[in-house]
Amino acid sequence: MSSARFVLLSLCSALLLQAALSADPLFHFCSTPENFTASSPYESNLNKLTSFLYAKTPLLGFGLGSIGQYQDQVYGLSLCRGDASPSDCKACVADAGAEIRRRCPRNKGAIIWYDECMFKYLNTDFFSQIDNANKFYMWNLNNVSHPEAFNSKVRGLLTGLVEEAYTVPKLFATGKVGLEGKMNLYGLVQCTRDLSSTECKECLEGAIGELPSCCDGKEGGRVVGGSCNFRYEIYPFVNV
Ligand SMILES: *[C@@H]1O[C@H](CO)[C@@H](O)[C@H](O)[C@H]1NC(C)=O
Ligand SMILES: *[C@@H]1O[C@H](CO)[C@@H](O)[C@H](O)[C@H]1NC(C)=O
Repeated sequence: MSSARFVLLSLCSALLLQAALSADPLFHFCSTPENFTASSPYESNLNKLTSFLYAKTPLLGFGLGSIGQYQDQVYGLSLCRGDASPSDCKACVADAGAEIRRRCPRNKGAIIWYDECMFKYLNTDFFSQIDNANKFYMWNLNNVSHPEAFNSKVRGLLTGLVEEAYTVPKLFATGKVGLEGKMNLYGLVQCTRDLSSTECKECLEGAIGELPSCCDGKEGGRVVGGSCNFRYEIYPFVNV
């Protein structure tokens, strides 16, 4: 009896700890007007695909798969931030796969983003195509004092990172450049690995082209899409 209670208590504290550690999503879209019905083959395929991606993604930081046939076929991918550890990646994909179903319970397609991963599924084959439909911006509210010089530093850093990212299998690059004083500017760019290297470059160049709309003169910013994203900050959010 006392040992059973002990087990129960440690299980509770483990769950609390996990709840405390799990991050909030950045954003999501329920992307199709089409719904599936409960206990349909589509739902069963989506469940299988979610388990498959959960199992597959942590090892390489990327998972891609499709399950089912005809109108019941579901396509999905998950991507962890290129520097995420396998355990952080796994925890993030688990959160993402569960949370997206709470937010879009019947949608045949949906996408959700976290700091450490993204998770997407759809009832049509979206692989190897740049996703121009799902995109959002984030920015730091603080303005820099010399926006023109700063903007050009940001663009320079990110453009350099694109040149690196699209040539490596992970389609991921991070880096920093010095700012005035002892400050540094830190950057990250990444593509989903269903894209070819040239598609990755095209996707990231498109995102960087949106700098003026998203993050003009802002201390930090992100353009985050279904196929690629960048982030820059004046604090070290990545180890470089
Ligand atoms: C899907 O479900 C949502 C929420 O119940 C509903 O508003 C929407 O009209 C449905 N879409 C279709 C195409 O039936
Ligand atoms: C930054 O600049 C914008 C536009 O000029 C202004 O609306 C905003 O209040 C500024 N933010 C801060 C934190 O001062």
